[in-house]
Amino acid sequence: MKPKASIQGLAVYQPGKPLEEVKRELGLDEVIKLASNENPFGCSSEVWPALAEEKDHFHLYPEGTAPELREKLAEHLEADPRRIILGNGSDEIVQMIARAYLEPGAESVMADLTFPRYETAIRIEGGIPVKVPLKDGTHDLEAMAQAVTAKTRIVWVCNPNNPTGTIVSHGALSQFLDQLPEHVLVVVDEAYYEYVTDPSYPDSLSLLDYNPQIIILRTFSKIYGLAAFRVGYGIGHPDVINELNRVREPFNVNRLAQQAALAALKDQTFVTYCCNQNRLGIKKITNKLDEWGLHYFPAHGNFILFDTGFPANEAFDYLLRQGIIVRSGQALGFPTYIRVSVGTEEQNSRFLEAYALFLKEKGKIHANA
Ligand SMILES: Cc1ncc(COP(=O)(O)O)c(C=O)c1O
Repeated sequence: MKPKASIQGLAVYQPGKPLEEVKRELGLDEVIKLASNENPFGCSSEVWPALAEEKDHFHLYPEGTAPELREKLAEHLEADPRRIILGNGSDEIVQMIARAYLEPGAESVMADLTFPRYETAIRIEGGIPVKVPLKDGTHDLEAMAQAVTAKTRIVWVCNPNNPTGTIVSHGALSQFLDQLPEHVLVVVDEAYYEYVTDPSYPDSLSLLDYNPQIIILRTFSKIYGLAAFRVGYGIGHPDVINELNRVREPFNVNRLAQQAALAALKDQTFVTYCCNQNRLGIKKITNKLDEWGLHYFPAHGNFILFDTGFPANEAFDYLLRQGIIVRSGQALGFPTYIRVSVGTEEQNSRFLEAYALFLKEKGKIHANA
């Protein structure tokens, strides 16, 4: 048996350590997970009753194109439903885009470092990732535009960028799009869109009106708190959506997931609450990081990437023993950094207390600080 050459050497995705696994391994009852940018407040209370209503339909396939969800999303976004495609998480839309637009040998421009699934999707199709270093943790759009050649098919802009949390502005993105040749599809991944409060953040839907070559990705996994259900969506020109539908799995978003997303979408009060709590959490954590003199990138999503000043796994292991799972920058290309997701007020306090103990043990702050 011989698997295809393009997948040789591909690393298997390493997710944040699961809660259950850490509890088992360390024999801890209480563990908090601040590793995968999930919503610490769960999801809207509207979701559970909506799921119960589906109980008599488990034997029926879902509607493949999720028409009701697309319709409601279209209303919410004030967009044409023909511009929307649903995916089994936005992860699946990343895959569909690469599958539909990359021939073997085609180039695809992305930041170095950014969300790793782009590279995996590119490589599976035999495409060539062209990586452009971040500038101060932010996409260097000028250098990315220069990296585009006649062979480029897709450019990825992760905004806010995972793992740095930085954003590119409306003006910068718009100017970037103006520079690109027509044969390039630009993916603007806005998985953390609802968390961003900075006024310079792009109104990407308005850019779509003038730029048929962009597709915007969003998800129900983050602020809507439905990561378990796997629902993401893309918003793009109907022609692009048509191409993606050719490679879409027939029943890619399951029945329960569609109902959960519909119910969650209705509850915008929950979304606003989570956004506000997240800003408070970021303030609380970054105030402490400032006090400790630790560098961090401007955090526009629901996570903060900060420099521990030590090999990241030291802080990671220390926090794990305290029952706190964060993401070590070792695996993310930032070997001295930790990425911590913003939790509830109590979780943030526990994280900061545990981190203060780590700094004390390292002699970086006073024992009675
Ligand atoms: C930037 C970015 N894009 C996409 C995803 C995937 O999200 P989903 O759960 O919708 O597949 C994530 C998840 O962490 C992410 O950080």
